[in-house]
Amino acid sequence: MTEFIPVLKKDSIDIIVNDLARRISSDYKNSELILIGVLKGSVIFLSDLMRSLTIPVKIDFVRVSSYGSGTSSSGKINLTKDIEIDIKNKDVLIIEDIVDTGLTLTYLVDHFKSFGPKSVKICSLLDKHERRKTDIKVDYIGHAVKDGFLIGYGIDYNEDFRYLPDIYHMKL
Ligand code: IMP
Ligand code: MG
Repeated sequence: MTEFIPVLKKDSIDIIVNDLARRISSDYKNSELILIGVLKGSVIFLSDLMRSLTIPVKIDFVRVSSYGSGTSSSGKINLTKDIEIDIKNKDVLIIEDIVDTGLTLTYLVDHFKSFGPKSVKICSLLDKHERRKTDIKVDYIGHAVKDGFLIGYGIDYNEDFRYLPDIYHMKL
């Protein structure tokens, strides 16, 4: 039987998101910041985060596929939707739901750098640092987690459970 163990309730997520927003608003004061969300997992996080910021931002999205339909990364990254706005000489902050092996973000940072932005940094709600396979630096981390498959607050298992307001560890 599948078990759902609560990891972060909505009120804890709100505190984490507000804290990240405060740091980002202060670090990017007086800059032209573009948030680039990684679809689809980051949509709820990005929508909450951008409304907590006290600086103006623009947003765009990319879509990558690496996970297939299982719970472990295939390691192969496909960009299936690219950004549509110009990021040349702009500050880019990639908004991700979870950093796991780091392969997706390593690919994305290289990809965005090819457009000549002023800077590229990373903000992830969750960080599974023990599973990292690359030495990618995550600049803003909401919450560190151990191993285990998480769902809710935008994060899915085979496209299910994104709608849940809280985050759970799903035990199959
Ligand atoms: P990475 O390339 O291994 O770092 O994988 C990152 C991507 O895998 C993230 O964009 C997530 O969408 C997905 N992912 C990693 N861990 C989980 C999880 O526990 N639940 C759902 N998706 C996950
Ligand atoms: Mg993802």
